[in-house]
Amino acid sequence: MNNTKPLALVTGASSGIGETFARRLARDGYGLILVARRRDRLDALARELGGAESLAADLTSEADLKLVEERIATARNLELLVNNAGFGTKGRFFDIPVDSQDRMHRLHVMATLRLTHAALGGMVARGKGGVINVSSVAGFGQSPGNVSYCATKAWINSFTEGLHVELKRAGSPVKVQALCPGFTLSEFHDVVRMDRKSIPARLWMRAEDVVDASLDGLARGKLFVVPGPIYVLAVKLISCIPRWARIALAIRYSKEVKTD
Ligand SMILES: NC(=O)c1ccc[n+]([C@@H]2O[C@H](COP(=O)([O-])OP(=O)(O)OC[C@H]3O[C@@H](n4cnc5c(N)ncnc54)[C@H](OP(=O)(O)O)[C@@H]3O)[C@@H](O)[C@H]2O)c1
Repeated sequence: MNNTKPLALVTGASSGIGETFARRLARDGYGLILVARRRDRLDALARELGGAESLAADLTSEADLKLVEERIATARNLELLVNNAGFGTKGRFFDIPVDSQDRMHRLHVMATLRLTHAALGGMVARGKGGVINVSSVAGFGQSPGNVSYCATKAWINSFTEGLHVELKRAGSPVKVQALCPGFTLSEFHDVVRMDRKSIPARLWMRAEDVVDASLDGLARGKLFVVPGPIYVLAVKLISCIPRWARIALAIRYSKEVKTD
């Protein structure tokens, strides 16, 4: 790999938003390290992008997470880390096996924490770089059937905000961003077995537009990026409603949850 190029590491690069980040960053002149479990997908994308590095890893596994941390530690020209890998589940917390909820916390919380820590030391020392943590508009509230999803995305928002304050206070130019998309066309809804038709067409966004908004926001040093005017409005409204009223509205009006 060409060491003079700035390097970006993208987790969850085998599909959806992560794959779209990888394509856009390659066009922008970054060398790439692509991380996900499906090696065949990563290798095909790496070939297509002209020699990116694929690193097959299950980020919920301690051994694989260590491998990725070690790779980050040796990447002296790492300028961007995109913590994007994630998934949703179907069903009420008390109905479904705890295993999937445990894995979700490992992936959304622990992998984000560990990879960000592995990257930031070098970036701060070099006075250069950025971390994008892919959260969700779901991180601004709660809804039945999404308890761990909303909680882990709220953690990502809080974690990223804390890092932003620390970095600014330390006078570091390193940037962090919590990217909070709404419904985005990807494989996410196949994994969670959700019918896309149950969501109004105007609410769907293209991954390309989400990634453009994120990178545009990063260039401007924006901490929270919410792509799409509908979602900007939704987040503003949610933020104005007192917590007690948000809870009452969620109990009264949220969709009935089916657990299969
Ligand atoms: N699509 C939406 O509506 C939406 C909305 C808001 C936020 N988001 C967030 O956007 C991010 C990307 O999701 P997406 O919509 O692009 O869905 P996606 O197409 O299903 O992509 C998810 C990616 O995460 C990887 N991944 C899942 N489990 C992993 C694990 N244990 N270790 C390593 N990689 C893993 C998957 O690759 P492998 O299966 O090959 O491992 C895949 O590349 C997620 O954090 C999601 O929460 C999505």
